[in-house]
Amino acid sequence: MATDRPEIEIRGLHKSFGDNHVLRGIDLEVARGEVVCVIGPSGSGKSTLLRCVNLLEEPSAGRVFVGGTEVTDPDVDIDAVRRRIGMVFQQFNLFPHVDVAGNLTLPQRRVLGTDTARAAAVARENLARVGLADKTDAYPAQLSGGQQQRVAIARALSMGPEVMLFDEPTSALDPELVGEVLSVMRVLAGEGMTMMVVTHEIGFAREVADRVVFMDGGVIVEQGPAARVVGRPQQERTRNFLDRILNPAGPGPDGD
Ligand SMILES: Nc1ncnc2c1ncn2[C@@H]1O[C@H](COP(=O)(O)OP(=O)(O)O)[C@@H](O)[C@H]1O
Ligand SMILES: [Mg+2]
Repeated sequence: MATDRPEIEIRGLHKSFGDNHVLRGIDLEVARGEVVCVIGPSGSGKSTLLRCVNLLEEPSAGRVFVGGTEVTDPDVDIDAVRRRIGMVFQQFNLFPHVDVAGNLTLPQRRVLGTDTARAAAVARENLARVGLADKTDAYPAQLSGGQQQRVAIARALSMGPEVMLFDEPTSALDPELVGEVLSVMRVLAGEGMTMMVVTHEIGFAREVADRVVFMDGGVIVEQGPAARVVGRPQQERTRNFLDRILNPAGPGPDGD
């Protein structure tokens, strides 16, 4: 039995959109309970990589396994696979016309067939986990962006995923709201959730990630412990990227 297999295994993954060869041979494993942060410039293929893990995009070549099940097997029950993978997007994608409780209970009832009382209990539990136990009756538009993103995380957790994928979960937030979302993610990581996180929050990556992966041009340029990849990058492309992201204004008009 392959009990020690990684939770996520990506082997020789390629993805093209027409002539645009976006992923050019990605090999990556994520162990159970591991937190991997993926960083890299815009357009390098980070979102496409995450989306290939839960087959929101169909890989052009290569194989992907989640929890030992090959998701790229043409005969796989893709709905069953997706139930094991929670995904959180930059745009929170909450149902606008449904209150917070409904946002958490509807997918459980529709996708998992959970009964109403049980779905409501799971919703309450997960709203408490993200610090929003008092917002069950609110509508998304009545919440701040940070609160909406925490609801989106609670909604994903309500499906009982084995793996959580985050695609720039704080990029749409006002700066003062970023911290509350990162705090929730930090707690999840501490609880042992397996997580792949695409983020520009280098401080978060440094503190929470077991491993940081730097992507550019559809390949993994460099990966390793956060302190090494962020603190002492070996590759010039990684250094240039980190310079730009850590000093976004660049040199001042006086040249410093
Ligand atoms: N659904 C799609 N159809 C066509 N091209 C796409 C699609 N999704 C992504 N791309 C292209 O793939 C490249 C990588 O995009 P993406 O994975 O979103 O990068 P990142 O998340 O690193 O910014 C870009 O050139 C983008 O235009
Ligand atoms: Mg992206």
